[in-house]
Amino acid sequence: MVSHSSNNRGNFATRLGVILASAGSAVGLGNIWRFPTEVGNNGGAAFILVYFGFVLFLALPVMVCEFLMGRASRSNTVGAWKVLAPGSPLIVVGFLGILAGVLILSFYSVVAGWTLDYTVLSLTCQLMGEQDFAQVFQAFVSNPWKPLVTMLLFLLVTHWIVVRGVEHGIEKYSKLMMPLLLLIIVVLAVYAMSMPGAEAGLMFLLRPDFSKVTPGVVLSAMGQALFSLSVGLGCLTTYASYFNKETKLMSSALSVCLIDTLVAVMSGFIIFPAVFSVQGVGVDAGPGLVFITLPYVFNMAFSGMPLLGYLFSGLFYLLLILAALTSSISMHEISTAFLTDNYRMERRRAARIVTGACLLLGIACSLSFGPWKDYTLYGMTVFDWFDFVSAKFCMPIGAMFICIFVGWVMPHSEVRAQLTNWGTLPVRLYGIFRFLARWVAPLGVMIVFINELLA
Ligand code: PHE
Repeated sequence: MVSHSSNNRGNFATRLGVILASAGSAVGLGNIWRFPTEVGNNGGAAFILVYFGFVLFLALPVMVCEFLMGRASRSNTVGAWKVLAPGSPLIVVGFLGILAGVLILSFYSVVAGWTLDYTVLSLTCQLMGEQDFAQVFQAFVSNPWKPLVTMLLFLLVTHWIVVRGVEHGIEKYSKLMMPLLLLIIVVLAVYAMSMPGAEAGLMFLLRPDFSKVTPGVVLSAMGQALFSLSVGLGCLTTYASYFNKETKLMSSALSVCLIDTLVAVMSGFIIFPAVFSVQGVGVDAGPGLVFITLPYVFNMAFSGMPLLGYLFSGLFYLLLILAALTSSISMHEISTAFLTDNYRMERRRAARIVTGACLLLGIACSLSFGPWKDYTLYGMTVFDWFDFVSAKFCMPIGAMFICIFVGWVMPHSEVRAQLTNWGTLPVRLYGIFRFLARWVAPLGVMIVFINELLA
């Protein structure tokens, strides 16, 4: 078994640290950028309801399983399978997690790079006043080198923090930044809802039209739930290997799901009222949706108070980058921890390999919005493929096997001991968890896949 002291990892010191680091991984661009994009592409309210179902019945139990596997094995996403299921082919699930982590970090850095640019634009007053923001966005992402520079910067900061270990920096500033981000989101949501024409946006979010729910929509909702909660690829397994014996696995998972879902829903309440009050932007504007509508929100919400508007937009993008960073670090950590644990590689060297790989792949993703946008396969660009393979393939497969393993293969006594902290916690939710992990979650994934194949 890999012990804590045999590598440079350490422990999360407090319960708050555990929740904030895990919530830091969960809350990110997935909530504020990917969620509205998916909602827009998949028909609104009905998608959100299906999404809630997947959060509750799939992502939450998978998160508990990942926490459990990480703390029980005290190892990374591949190492956990080695320790808990020695010699089993299930180790492939660990490698799928590594693949998904690298793919996600590659396209994530591109979007985080856009955010970085928007931070600069807003801090230098370039997002103020009436402009065609769709044009501004298009011009930036299709520029052959600018987005590469911002992506590189974001990856380098991620690298820098990972090399130093996550505990001190991340734990400390997550505590400060996450509440601030939440506050800004609430204020913006209130403003956005009072914009002219906002009702249409609210209807889109609140009135489900179930005729829009196709197998593809269900698959997207499943992918989004797993992506947003960072589960299915062993990211939280790696984090949980830093938990201590007192960490309450089930209630921590519940808190993380709650925070994450709240942030996602609120970003919907910011984006969609705005989309409907701005002429010419469709709900299905794709990855640019948020970057096109948000500047409008800032301008309209604070039209009488430009200084406040300036402050809010600058702060918002800044915090969005920080939220993205707390997530990107956790993705990076998946492969870095794997290399340091399994190959006894020095942390710095391991991190370099991961950053290098993500940089190369990220360049391809970034160029797919500009010079390479016509290189498509089945109508999808490199960026689309990375997103598809990770969220709609690797993560669901990972989630399913993680649940099957914990629900059916791991000794019952071990599972129970972990979830009740060796008998010191009440067992109220244990039965429900077991049922979800054994039946609902794995069967759910299988049904979604079969449905998609038959569609
Ligand atoms: N959950 C993160 C977000 O919503 C993305 C992520 C996916 C992080 C997978 C880690 C692992 O932005």
